[in-house]
Amino acid sequence: MSLMVISMACVGFFLLQRAWSHVDGQDKPFLSAWPSAVVPQGEHVSLQCHSHLGFTIFSLYKEDGVPAPELYNRRFWKDILLGPVTPAHAGTYRCRGSHLHSPTEWSAPSNPLVITVTGVYRKPSLLAHPGPLVKSGEMVVLQCWSDMKFEHFLLHREGITEDPLHLTGQLHDGGSQANSSVGPMIPALAGTYRCFGSVAYSPYEWSAPSDPLDIVIIGLYEKPSLSAQPGPTVQAGENVTLSCSSQSSFDIYRLSRDGEAHGLRLPAVPRVSGTFKADFPLGPATHGGNYRCFGSFRALPYVWSHPSDPLPISVTGNSSSTWSSPTEPSSNTGIPRHLHVLIVSSVVIIPFTILLFFLLHRWCSNKKNAAVMDQEPAGDRTVNREDSDEQDPQEVTYAQLDHRVFTQRKIARPSQRPKRPPTDTSVYIELPNADPRSLSPAHEHHSQALRGSSRETTALSQTQVAGSNVPAAGI
Ligand SMILES: *[C@@H]1O[C@H](CO)[C@@H](O)[C@H](O)[C@H]1NC(C)=O
Ligand SMILES: *[C@@H]1O[C@H](CO)[C@@H](O)[C@H](O)[C@H]1NC(C)=O
Ligand SMILES: *[C@@H]1O[C@H](CO)[C@@H](O)[C@H](O)[C@H]1NC(C)=O
Repeated sequence: MSLMVISMACVGFFLLQRAWSHVDGQDKPFLSAWPSAVVPQGEHVSLQCHSHLGFTIFSLYKEDGVPAPELYNRRFWKDILLGPVTPAHAGTYRCRGSHLHSPTEWSAPSNPLVITVTGVYRKPSLLAHPGPLVKSGEMVVLQCWSDMKFEHFLLHREGITEDPLHLTGQLHDGGSQANSSVGPMIPALAGTYRCFGSVAYSPYEWSAPSDPLDIVIIGLYEKPSLSAQPGPTVQAGENVTLSCSSQSSFDIYRLSRDGEAHGLRLPAVPRVSGTFKADFPLGPATHGGNYRCFGSFRALPYVWSHPSDPLPISVTGNSSSTWSSPTEPSSNTGIPRHLHVLIVSSVVIIPFTILLFFLLHRWCSNKKNAAVMDQEPAGDRTVNREDSDEQDPQEVTYAQLDHRVFTQRKIARPSQRPKRPPTDTSVYIELPNADPRSLSPAHEHHSQALRGSSRETTALSQTQVAGSNVPAAGI
């Protein structure tokens, strides 16, 4: 019974195989990439070879790009994970399917699949002319440019699976640029755009993506109205609030100031009066400007209303004297005051020291010559000690301050770290030569600070090692 089932299955299998070899071309497997065929350098991509004929094993090969000998004569079960991806992974791949019982017979090759590696060069810039807010039906020019010489630019809109738009780069002032006209503007063209650059000899290696650029279509809904509290003319330092409202049931209001790229957004709140309103608190007024607001709906974030009538806000009173005065002058006068103290103290201390030295010298010269030889270095030493006593609190404060900054921010600054030990040790070496009795408290404090900083340095180098180990282990 079971033998019959097996033999029937075998017959079925052979028939299927024959059918497959007869209808050549239809049995082609399908090669796809997950999560995307455009892979940032260093990440992974999974290639899957699908077939309705139920192949159990697959082989993968590369048609162009850098050859991949690691794929030759290898069989894969379901999918293949490539990565961490390097520029050498870029190129066109195909797969073939086979059955376990006849591993030498391979299907026709699959569709070609291009794997593009991004992040190979630094990112270009993307700009919109005349601006990213485009009236319905108007054109916008998207300009991609770089200080590198890219022969090609690729313009991509987020959420679109189609291949990016291919633009030919034009060399320009040592760099390159390309323009793409988008429009007449409809909601389907609005969205987040990015561009990439590539060079002619390696078309599947792209730069890092440009910063995202939101292209918004405006003018599809009625304009809201914009008002200011307490009014459009305010005293410097007075709190200003701008209110955007409309009879339309907008979800979100956007406030933008002329000449500024990024505006504010707030949810609209329904009012008893039947309007939908948002209050933008701008805080204390510093400088004026021309404001506009727009209404939009959550489901269509790139479709906005007509702009409100522009609202010019003017600030009275001298903003530079009444407004910036609390911050700037205090830091400006802080340094002269400090200098002043230094000058006064040096004017007092230097003549006093000279006088003291002169008196000491006179007193010493009255004694025997041998005694002079003994005492002069002692005088020298006291001066030295005073110097180091003056320096020590500064050194300690500095080390402690640095320690605090380090623990708060946990940022490694390897370039600055090595500079400190030499200055620390030079002080440290000098101290034992001086009188240990009078210097011990400061000395102890100082060496504590030193120990603290050396402990920090150890911890720092450990984290650096741990950090640098991660990519090394990955490769
Ligand atoms: C692209 O458009 C901008 C603005 O319209 C213009 O300044 C620039 O020269 C254009 N570049 C090219 C290559 O056409
Ligand atoms: C401005 O508003 C903030 C709170 O929003 C408040 O703390 C501050 O005192 C106000 N300043 C003036 C000048 O009214
Ligand atoms: C504003 O203050 C600056 C000095 O802070 C002064 O030079 C300028 O004349 C003042 N302007 C007005 C309009 O008061």
